[in-house]
Amino acid sequence: MTVIAVVNRKGGSGKSTLATHIAGYLASLGQDVMLGDVDRLQSSRLWLNLRHPQHARIHGWSIDEDKFARPPAGVKHVVLDTPGGFRGFGLMKISMHADAIVIPAAPGVFDRAAAAESIKELRSLPRVISGKCALACVGMRIDGRTRQAAELESWAQAQGVPLLGTVRLAQAYARCLEQGLSIFDFPSAKVGQYLGDWQKLNAWLDTIVSAAPAAPGSPLSRPSAGKASHPASGSTLGG
Ligand SMILES: Nc1ncnc2c1ncn2[C@@H]1O[C@H](COP(=O)(O)OP(=O)(O)OP(=O)(O)O)[C@@H](O)[C@H]1O
Ligand SMILES: [Mg+2]
Repeated sequence: MTVIAVVNRKGGSGKSTLATHIAGYLASLGQDVMLGDVDRLQSSRLWLNLRHPQHARIHGWSIDEDKFARPPAGVKHVVLDTPGGFRGFGLMKISMHADAIVIPAAPGVFDRAAAAESIKELRSLPRVISGKCALACVGMRIDGRTRQAAELESWAQAQGVPLLGTVRLAQAYARCLEQGLSIFDFPSAKVGQYLGDWQKLNAWLDTIVSAAPAAPGSPLSRPSAGKASHPASGSTLGG
């Protein structure tokens, strides 16, 4: 089982958008994916509840009789969305299972500073130090008319973390969140302008999931608080 977590201690940095898109991409490949929140805010669960069953299936946590949440049996990939301010023991616990942690980085000095703090903490974690958990950044809400992408690229270089693309600022992403969708639920002809932004991240995810060993059981649990896709041709993305 592959575990991919999305982490940035700054609220509103794009974690849920990124986590839902990572889950959406893996589901679009026909793989059994779970998307789970590790906090009580449960944005990802809300997104899953909004998701129409006609789209590629994405599982949520399964709650067992001891009231522990676990990935459902047979799930191949687990994507974990985390809340703002996530650090310390909680982060350490998640990192013990993670094969990859992706940090969304929005433009602006405060966002970069928060992302840098998250990277610094992640770098101190044993599984990251040992190389068993890979780190990468993705630029979020990037305005293509500005130098934001170039600034983020040099910032990421200075951090020593690969920048796996920059996701443009577009109303389409807010629309996706509202409808339980990702860009990958749409026919490519309809979302061609957005897909290039995800290419590098998707290629990286392909290597992460193909490198992960097949695990018989579930290493993850959390105290409780169909596959094939039909393109979202009827859903609207707007501008
Ligand atoms: N590329 C984008 N273009 C336009 N809006 C975006 C983009 N990415 C994210 N957003 C919007 O930014 C807002 C914050 O995004 P999101 O909810 O993913 O952040 P978050 O880090 O999960 O926030 P929180 O810390 O509160 O959980 C949302 O309204 C979302 O629709
Ligand atoms: Mg969120």
